[in-house]
Amino acid sequence: SIHPVLLCGGSGTRLWPLSRQSFPKQFSKLTGTESLFQGAARRLRGDGFTAPVVITGNDFRFIVVEQLAGIETAPQAILIEPAGRNTAPAVLAAALHLQALDPDALMLVAPSDHVVPDDAAFRAAVQAATARALAGDIITFGITPTRAETGYGYLELAAGADAQAAIPQSLARFVEKPDAATATNMLNAGNFLWNAGIFLFTAATLIKAFQAHAPQVLGPVQAAVENARPDLAFTRLDPAAWEGVPDISIDYAIMEKAANLAVMPFSAGWSDLGGWDAVWQESGPDASGNVSSANATAIDCEDTLLRSESPRIELVGIGLSDIIAIATTDAVLVAHKSQSQRVKEAVAILKARG
Ligand code: GDD
Ligand code: MG
Repeated sequence: SIHPVLLCGGSGTRLWPLSRQSFPKQFSKLTGTESLFQGAARRLRGDGFTAPVVITGNDFRFIVVEQLAGIETAPQAILIEPAGRNTAPAVLAAALHLQALDPDALMLVAPSDHVVPDDAAFRAAVQAATARALAGDIITFGITPTRAETGYGYLELAAGADAQAAIPQSLARFVEKPDAATATNMLNAGNFLWNAGIFLFTAATLIKAFQAHAPQVLGPVQAAVENARPDLAFTRLDPAAWEGVPDISIDYAIMEKAANLAVMPFSAGWSDLGGWDAVWQESGPDASGNVSSANATAIDCEDTLLRSESPRIELVGIGLSDIIAIATTDAVLVAHKSQSQRVKEAVAILKARG
C-alpha cells in the first residue's frame, strides 16, 4: 500500500493578508468549504492508501490535528520540524521515518497548496504509476502547461515519450523555476510538462538519491530522525541535529540531478493556488468576471476579486477592472491582478519593519 506524505510547512506569502505566518494558506478555506490541506488528505484516502504521515512546523501542529479530525482522518504520524528548511529535508525525514517501519514503503508526497478537482482520477493516476515506482524510479506528475509560468518546475519528455499516455513516461530533464525567456521557450517547444510538485517513490529509492546527490542533507536529517522524541501525538525531530540541515527544495536537491525520473501525465485538472490571480480563476468568476465573497459587493466591476474576511467589514468596489481587494480585520490588500505575484514583496517589507 501507499503511504501519503503531506507537506504543509510552507508559509504561502503570496496570499497575504489571508495567509499569515501563524496561519498559512494551506489551512485556509480559499475556494470551498474545506481547507487545501484537508482536500489533500481526503484525496489520498481509501483503497490502497495507509493513514497519512504529515510533516509540518511546530506552530501548525494543533491546526493539523484539528483539521484532520474535521475530516475524520487519523494520521499515522505527525512529524514536527524544529524550523522550516524547505521541502528536501521534510521529504527525506518522512522517508527515513517510513523506512524504519517498512523498507519497501511506497510514498506519495503531496503538497497541501493545490486544487485537484477529480480525486478519483488522481488516485487512478497514482495507482497506474506504482509499478514503475516499485521498480526504483522517481515518479513526477505532469500537467500540460498553459502559460510561461516561472514559479513551477518543467519536465522535458524523453524522445518518443507520449504526454497523453496512461502510464509513466521517461524524462530527459527537470528544470526548476526557469527565467521568463526559458519558460517561454519550453512552452513553445511543446515537449515539456509542468511539475505538479507531487511525487511517488519508495523510501529506499529516495534515500539512495540523497546519498548520490545531496549527502550534505542526508547526514543531519538522519541524525534528526534517529534522535526524534515523541510528544503527545507528535514526533519531534531533534532540534540540535536540525541546526545542521541545509535549506533546499527537493526540486533543486534531487529532481534536477536524478537520472531515474519518470512522469505520469495527469490531465484531469490541477491548479496551484500560488497567488490571488489563481484564487480568482479557481473561484469561478461570474459572467462579468467577478468573484465577490460574503460582505463584498461589486458595482460595475469586471474581472475583479473582492473578498472580505470579516462579517464586520463591508467591502464595495465600483467601476474596477482587474483588481484584487482583500480585507481582513487587521490588513487590507489592493492590487492590480497582473501584479498579484508581488504580494510577497509587501510581506518582506512588513517583516523588515517588524
Ligand atoms: N513540512 C514542510 N516544511 N513543508 C514545506 C516546507 C517546509 O520547510 N516548505 C514548503 N513546504 C510545503 C508547502 O506548504 C507546500 O505544500 C509544498 O511544500 C511545496 O512548497 P512550495 O514552497 O509551495 O513550492 P513551490 O510551489 O514554490 O514549487 C513546487 O511546487 C510547484 C507546483 O506547485 C515545486 O515542486 C515546483 O517544481 C512545482 O512546479
Ligand atoms: Mg506551491
